[in-house]
Amino acid sequence: MAKAAASADDEIFALRLDRSANDLWPMLDGLYGGHPDYATFCTNLEKTLRKAWAARPADLKRLDLRRDLEPDWFQRADMAGYVFYIDRFAGTLKGVLDKLDYLEDLGISYVHLMPCLKPRPGDSDGGYSVMDYRQINPAYGTMAEFEEVATALRARGISLCIDLVLNHTAKEHAWAKKAAKGDARYQDYYLMFDTPDQPDAYARSLVEVFPDHAPGNFTHYPDFGKWVWTTFNEHQWDLNWANPKVFLEIVEVMLFLANRGVDVLRLDAVAFMWKRLGTRCQSEPEVHMILQALRACSRIAAPAVIHLEEAIVGPAEMLPYLGRGRHDGKEGNLAYHNSLMVQFWSSLATRNTDLMTHVLGTHFPETLRNATYATYIRCHDDIGWAVTDEDAAQKGLSGPGHRAFLSDFYEGIFPGTFARGALFQANPATGDKRISGSFASLAGLEQAISHGDVSAEDLAIQRILMGHALIAAFGGIPLIYMGDELASLNDYGYRDVPDHAHDSRWLHRPRMDWYLAAERHHGVGPAARVFAGTKHILARRRANPALHAQNGTRILDVGDSGLFAFARLAPTGPVVCLFNFTENWRPVAADWLRANGVSALHDLLSDHPVEVTAGQIWLPPYARAWIA
Ligand code: GLC
Ligand code: GLC
Repeated sequence: MAKAAASADDEIFALRLDRSANDLWPMLDGLYGGHPDYATFCTNLEKTLRKAWAARPADLKRLDLRRDLEPDWFQRADMAGYVFYIDRFAGTLKGVLDKLDYLEDLGISYVHLMPCLKPRPGDSDGGYSVMDYRQINPAYGTMAEFEEVATALRARGISLCIDLVLNHTAKEHAWAKKAAKGDARYQDYYLMFDTPDQPDAYARSLVEVFPDHAPGNFTHYPDFGKWVWTTFNEHQWDLNWANPKVFLEIVEVMLFLANRGVDVLRLDAVAFMWKRLGTRCQSEPEVHMILQALRACSRIAAPAVIHLEEAIVGPAEMLPYLGRGRHDGKEGNLAYHNSLMVQFWSSLATRNTDLMTHVLGTHFPETLRNATYATYIRCHDDIGWAVTDEDAAQKGLSGPGHRAFLSDFYEGIFPGTFARGALFQANPATGDKRISGSFASLAGLEQAISHGDVSAEDLAIQRILMGHALIAAFGGIPLIYMGDELASLNDYGYRDVPDHAHDSRWLHRPRMDWYLAAERHHGVGPAARVFAGTKHILARRRANPALHAQNGTRILDVGDSGLFAFARLAPTGPVVCLFNFTENWRPVAADWLRANGVSALHDLLSDHPVEVTAGQIWLPPYARAWIA
């Protein structure tokens, strides 16, 4: 019996290895083929995959099978994500178990536990400076408790996403410590230089991610006499992905985590993984080869697992993370739709959707293969104004001028703005100014409350719900960032926390307000209204399979610069989604809707028929409608 099971298992592995062979080996040949140890590397990689598969728990193997049979599981309309810091949401991992009813009440089927692996002590960039990938942050709990949470989530049909930081480790990681001691094997895991000449040569074409608090891209360590590549903070050492040993180590880590019950690996800061002199060292072709190869490894040894790639870059540079050209259908299953997020904020500030319609209509295909977007309005990071000069010019705007306007608007200093936010990493050299702030505060709620202005408060609530309705309908998995379902405001307390004071992103990383949450079903305050509205949006999404991510998204020109429109191309007929980015009532001709293929004129979002008056439908301020 046992022997039969083992050989069936071996056979499954062999089939999966076969299935993905052409996705894997050509990438590795290209990346590492010239390396003297290449043959050994290939043998070791196959051994690693086989070992991870053998160690995979039986319930996860069942899930593998199930997802092989239902490969669209992550594209379905019942997927809705929630993103939180374990400590800020629930104290500890054990605490998370007590909050699952809350998440279910909201309609959540996917959770992203923000960095939860063991970080360096002190400032750890919110946990993105990892010193041990095989241990849970002791402040949150143990690996056994993590597995308990994973199992509990799985029992409720909630997928689990965690971060895997690929670009760098903490300088306290065991590899880094050995490297600092002079161990050549481990020095080759990082990018280390004996003199400043090469760093200087690279630096000429690099941008700075944290120009304020971590200027430059290299750090000199006199005690061991090296210049180390540190794109982000000084304590985050970039890994040398040109070294196949690094690839192998990370595959081991990746599958170790997969076997603990993770469904989605959020691969952090992937754009920076490959360095080439004379370039920005972002999104180089090799990055996509590495990511395709990693994806193939998961698909062989843990096929239930998918990859979410974090590349916060301009529209043209972002799409390849979902697999373009020869990587089509083989790279990230998910990638953040940064442009949708940026354009939402841009249109909200200008009350004009021309740029949004242009960017989303020109740069993105209607459908993607084996992939979809992670759609979001806010996350734990700042907002960078990724609008190119060319796109701005197409709509008669100056790129630098528009980006500066957006920063001023959301910092809260532009005359007439409704937003309250803060600058992040203003860079006088490039004019680049990024923005921090919570969804609700950037959307006007904080100012409205402080002015005691009830109608402004109502507009802010409508803006928030329009944002949630936009990401729920666009195509992809909508990700709600913790607190945004309760209209959480900016948290200015971070300025008093020594490890956070230098980083304004903590403005929008508040602790969960469980008092507000407890009151969510009562009263008429912003929290209760936004919770009810968000819950309703997710429920309506779930009820409408037409929003499945495999159905294309076609951007439409509705002929009114205050409105944004797209059609979801379902086989049962299109769903035309409309969003009013102004505080005025706007008409849309019923004939225009009919010309775009919707005849019943039923709003799937409110689940009511659309009212037609003299051939027009009227959209109230910040309206959202999904018309079928
Ligand atoms: C990602 C994270 C960000 C972090 C950076 C460095 O972009 O989202 O919070 O600072 O990577 O790890
Ligand atoms: C990284 C950082 C994020 C920043 C982005 C673009 O993703 O984590 O904060 O906005 O790079 O520079």
